Amino acid sequence: MLRIRVNGELREFADLDPSMPLLWLLRDHLELTGTRYSCGEGLCGTCTIHVDGQLIRSCTTPASYADGKSVTTIEGLSGKTADALRKAWHKFQVPQCGFCQAGQLMSAEHLLRTSDKILSSEEMDSAMAGNICRCGTYTRIRDAIATAAVELDS
Ligand code: FES
Ligand code: FES
Repeated sequence: MLRIRVNGELREFADLDPSMPLLWLLRDHLELTGTRYSCGEGLCGTCTIHVDGQLIRSCTTPASYADGKSVTTIEGLSGKTADALRKAWHKFQVPQCGFCQAGQLMSAEHLLRTSDKILSSEEMDSAMAGNICRCGTYTRIRDAIATAAVELDS
């Protein structure tokens, strides 16, 4: 039996292989399909979620890892940092195809929530390096994060 708080709601999973990827639990058992599957090897960041507030690649993390913990997906991402980022994402029309964007936002939210907010381009690039965008929206992502950071810092 796994007990996992998902986006604020306690969920119990009795008949589930605890070694299955957490991503499958989210997408197939809870229909939280905002978290995407791409490389399946922890390399692209598309499947990024938060577990107890920390960044996790859900494609390579077993469901058992989240037992007794709190999971946040893009559907449940909330708070002033997330709000500022969503506003900036809209302002700069960041997404192109959109496939990577949930993971980008999960990483960006973690970055601004756990940093001194005002970051250099190099610091931003370094923190976001694990999130690949095949459409090449990196410049807009960086602009959006910087704008959200200024709003949060004011
Ligand atoms: S799908 Fe998980 S890191 Fe690429
Ligand atoms: S917006 Fe298309 S992969 Fe990032």
